[in-house]
Amino acid sequence: MNRIFITDVAPRDGLQNQPQPVSTQAKLELIGLLAAAGLSSIELTSFVSPKAVPQMADAAELVPLVNAGHPSLRSSVLVPNLKGLERAHLAGAREIAVVLSATETMNRKNINMGLAQATEVSEQTLLAAHQLGLRTRAYVAVAFDCPFEGATPLDTVLQLASRMQAAGAGEIVIADTIGSASPGMVKERLSALAGTVAVDKLAVHFHDTRGMGVANAWAALEAGVRRFDASTGGLGGCPFAPGAAGNLATEDLVLMAERSGFSTGVSMDGLMTAIDFLEAQMQRPLGGRAISWLRRERQKRRDASAQGMDVPA
Ligand code: COA
Ligand code: ZN
Repeated sequence: MNRIFITDVAPRDGLQNQPQPVSTQAKLELIGLLAAAGLSSIELTSFVSPKAVPQMADAAELVPLVNAGHPSLRSSVLVPNLKGLERAHLAGAREIAVVLSATETMNRKNINMGLAQATEVSEQTLLAAHQLGLRTRAYVAVAFDCPFEGATPLDTVLQLASRMQAAGAGEIVIADTIGSASPGMVKERLSALAGTVAVDKLAVHFHDTRGMGVANAWAALEAGVRRFDASTGGLGGCPFAPGAAGNLATEDLVLMAERSGFSTGVSMDGLMTAIDFLEAQMQRPLGGRAISWLRRERQKRRDASAQGMDVPA
């Protein structure tokens, strides 16, 4: 299969960590630009404690606005517990993602539960979401290394992924929360996971802390994975995971995939427009590893079209 599926997490993973407030209207505009760029799945926000993550306090306002403006968009929201599910459902969310970390300490820091409790709560939340007719995703965070406990045992990741599958998760998202993975490790872990859970349910979520995001995505492709999280402009990071940098940039992933014979359905010009918008909002330069080249190419196309020539994107 030569199609890959991207969930853009910029409105959630990207914005959750930003110091300056971003208005609901600006979030809505960003989501509109991402949808217009051809991203058919977008993680909108999270229904978490507004004390823990103030940037996501407007989740219940945002979801109905997105539903009204984009009735056929696949959109998900992160929920840490049953209260989050209830709030998300009331707001009209169509898909939820539970957030389970693979270590004791990361769960405590992130959602104030130990590993055993977080696993049970994630299972209960998935089952309850299913009964409500919602689609589901399950993150398995710190699936490579934990900022508090070091290397995460592969066995734990395999067990948690199996339990999330058994609880009905439509997608199991293997997350390199701090961006410490490298391609050899990705291939090894994803190949083991593909032997344990259905490979078409596996997704990967990389952060680009060490510049290996694209290489890791390639390793995941080689292991048979076709579902990827990425964040436009590379914006991202977890406030509870020290050392986590931005996500693998959507534009880097799209460039790599398209140049390697995979289709993404995403327009690079559309992504660039979304990055321009995000830069204006954040008041700082954004973009993944390829951004300078992508900008030069866009300028060439603009110059050529100003002279009446047509240069393919
Ligand atoms: N949404 C909003 N409020 C929530 C909530 C949710 N999903 N879950 C619990 N709360 C509220 C409770 O109602 C309670 O409110 P009160 O103080 O007004 O009575 C308060 O939060 C404490 O509830 P408790 O169940 O004791 O939660 P906690 O203090 O143990 O915190 C979480 C647990 C999960 C709510 C909190 O750790 C959290 O929101 N973490 C965010 C994780 C995150 O977004 N990480 C980044 C993405 S991976
Ligand atoms: Zn992340």
